[in-house]
Amino acid sequence: MCGIVGYIGDKNASDVLIKGLKRLEYRGYDSAGLALINGHLDIVKGKGKVLNLEKQVNSQKLTGKIGIGHTRWATHGEPNDVNSHPHLSQSGKIAVVHNGIIENYGALKKKLIEQGRTFHSETDTEIIAQLIEEIYENGSTHEFEKALQFALKQIVGTYGIAVVNSDEPDKIYVAKKGSPLLLGIGENEMFIASDASPIVEYTKKVIYLEDGEMAVVTKGNYEVKTIDDVTLTKEIHELALSLDAIEKAGYPHFMLKEIFEQPNSVADCLRGRLRLDNHTIQLGGLVDVMDQLVNAKRLVIAACGTSWHSGLVGEYLFEYLAKMPVEVEYASEFRYRDPLIGEGDVLLVISQSGETADTLAAMREAKAKGALVLGVCNVVGSTIARETDAGVYTHAGPEIGVASTKAFTAQVVVLTMIAIAVGQQRGTLDDAYAAKLIEELNRLPGKIKQILEQNESIKEMAKLFTYAPNFLYLGRTFNFPVALEGALKLKEISYIHAEGYPAAEMKHGPIALIDAMMPVVVVAATDHTNDKMISNIEEVKARKGRIIAVTNEENTEVKELSEFFISIPSTEDCLSPLLTVIPLQLLSYYIAVNRGCHVDQPRNLAKSVTVE
Ligand code: M6R
Repeated sequence: MCGIVGYIGDKNASDVLIKGLKRLEYRGYDSAGLALINGHLDIVKGKGKVLNLEKQVNSQKLTGKIGIGHTRWATHGEPNDVNSHPHLSQSGKIAVVHNGIIENYGALKKKLIEQGRTFHSETDTEIIAQLIEEIYENGSTHEFEKALQFALKQIVGTYGIAVVNSDEPDKIYVAKKGSPLLLGIGENEMFIASDASPIVEYTKKVIYLEDGEMAVVTKGNYEVKTIDDVTLTKEIHELALSLDAIEKAGYPHFMLKEIFEQPNSVADCLRGRLRLDNHTIQLGGLVDVMDQLVNAKRLVIAACGTSWHSGLVGEYLFEYLAKMPVEVEYASEFRYRDPLIGEGDVLLVISQSGETADTLAAMREAKAKGALVLGVCNVVGSTIARETDAGVYTHAGPEIGVASTKAFTAQVVVLTMIAIAVGQQRGTLDDAYAAKLIEELNRLPGKIKQILEQNESIKEMAKLFTYAPNFLYLGRTFNFPVALEGALKLKEISYIHAEGYPAAEMKHGPIALIDAMMPVVVVAATDHTNDKMISNIEEVKARKGRIIAVTNEENTEVKELSEFFISIPSTEDCLSPLLTVIPLQLLSYYIAVNRGCHVDQPRNLAKSVTVE
């Protein structure tokens, strides 16, 4: 979603800002812009890519030592030049970039118009610049910092903002409520960003702002305070992120790089957590809460998108291995229906970014009601990771492609490890089977590598389905969520309509869609449902649907019935989603590439959805 970058120091600010905005492109955006203080404000902005912005900046030979930049993902007002950020106050002296949504912007705008202000855009952001200036020029204070604080107190909604004022050419003001913002501390220079990717090249020292906090940033210095003007001493964190991890390393797309990283990301996720000597699982982040988890009255899992799919796999795992009843909720639905959750219950939230607004809201709701809140997050230091009572990091490394791949497998690995640990403590998992699962988890990176060796044949197969208008994905038990995930991957990057279904449910509706034009991807584990799956395949074939099966080499019956077959090494059924999902990621990737789609930044999508 929208990205913010800011710089103050001796480098050319426009270079730092453009580079930073390029690093933020992965979040998803439709327009970009920047403001530089050069006595007055130089503003360049417009619809389209950062590359266009860069061309404009270069053609105008714009330089400076202090500035702010933004990539916009439209919420209020269509993506066009006028609605792009930065937004200016009436005098043109104050510029604001903003992530989030101002919910009372309508009322504030009406009042500001009555006070004689003219608006140019349809955005909620423009009111921030105008409101600050109204207070600064005609209100109760002529101190800019106070005017900013007063304005923020009138605003209802979420924001991460960076503000510059040409009257104070050596300062950038930032504030946060609901949208992430961090400061990077350099040598006699300071950076501002909505995530660490634009900063990591220059410094590893960062400060995470919390809700209700603001900072006054000058060259080589900063002061953090609350918007009520209470000065704070903030902890300086060391970024674990490396620059290599956020570059493509020779791959044409981040998505392909991330698919191929999975043998390593799964191994990283398992590292230090699997005890092969005594067949136990060590999850340091859960030690203090394990008793509460093991004895929980209810376990609810909440997440969005792909993370919700991994939560569904988690449900099957917890019920199978730990015999615990589990409910899996869309975070957005959970949050808004006054959920029945309280003391003695556990809410487990799953989020790659750790910043998804719906998941964050669900988590806060459950926490306020007294539940223990646990997190499974990828981004270290993210808001969800910081606000949960305890949790487990997935350690998949930065995921830049908007379509989630390695984060999904790492989430499922973490959920499997938690389910095994809880099953062992609850006595629902016998020692021999626990040992078998732990040994098998340890073999998974090698098995994922084997699947990736089929890359070329999957690429060839993708050519045959590039122009299919629809796809159906079918799975059963542990692989039903994989069917959902396969369909989501395809639709988000190739824009082909795709549906994931429990295989048996097909005959209750989707079967009506099947004809000779319909590819049906069957994710078939060899469990007790295999015979039923074979019947489902026959039903599809009877209607001339084209079967692409993903299953074990030994599953000869399925193999013979299928037009196309992708082989998966044998594993325990409950671990099979970690293998079956890999070819589905590759198939979507190659279909999207063949269709000329922008794989890493699909239209309308954001990597981290920070608005509700
Ligand atoms: O960062 P999160 O895991 O909380 O994000 C949740 C979803 O927005 C995300 O999984 C989304 O569905 C992906 N684009 C799927 O590939």
